[in-house]
Amino acid sequence: MNLQAKTVRMRLVEEQDAEFILSLRLDTELNRYLSSVQPSVKDQVEWIKKYKADEQNGLQYYFIIERLDGVRCGTVRVYDILDDSFCWGSWILNKEKTRFAALESAFLVYQFGFQNLGFEKSHFEVVKGNDRVVSFHKKMGAVQVSEDDTNYYFEISRSVVEAKKLSLGDKV
Ligand SMILES: CC(C)(COP(=O)(O)OP(=O)(O)OC[C@H]1O[C@@H](n2cnc3c(N)ncnc32)[C@H](O)[C@@H]1OP(=O)(O)O)[C@@H](O)C(=O)NCCC(=O)NCCS
Repeated sequence: MNLQAKTVRMRLVEEQDAEFILSLRLDTELNRYLSSVQPSVKDQVEWIKKYKADEQNGLQYYFIIERLDGVRCGTVRVYDILDDSFCWGSWILNKEKTRFAALESAFLVYQFGFQNLGFEKSHFEVVKGNDRVVSFHKKMGAVQVSEDDTNYYFEISRSVVEAKKLSLGDKV
């Protein structure tokens, strides 16, 4: 698994990342559209321990996004792995991010899902009101397939992601 782009890379979460993850989840500038977590490092470590069993069983993959100099700048998670599609979320980048960390990490998630896991499609939800993120996904070529009171639901195919990556040339 070589998940490295121009300015960021991704690696699987470890217990030692508990404090960092908590710092992202408790940051009020970042957590407005995320589900809340307990402000306890101990609980976070327990969560990661349980998650590691899921990782072993291929049920979910939780990544730290870090700059190439090793500074951690975010997280992203692949989960809800269905027959033909994977879901991703828990996508957060803090102030240590590089300018195109969002674009690069999205393409790395798709690389992981489409190439490493072999899927042809991806699905995800965005909380209504998180307009910047909705716009990001639409620019990528995702299609809104449904909505409810809380979320918009999107899908995107491998071929659309690959065409978008080609069109961006040297940028990613
Ligand atoms: C979601 C999140 C990780 C996205 O990161 P971000 O840095 O805000 O992403 P941006 O949309 O600003 O994209 C970064 C850069 O890539 C560019 N970019 C994004 N999509 C692009 C595309 N398809 N083509 C070309 N450039 C693109 C943007 O224009 C921006 O460049 P700029 O700074 O020159 O304008 C971040 O906003 C975050 O942590 N939000 C809080 C948590 C959250 O709500 N997560 C989502 C849960 S679903």
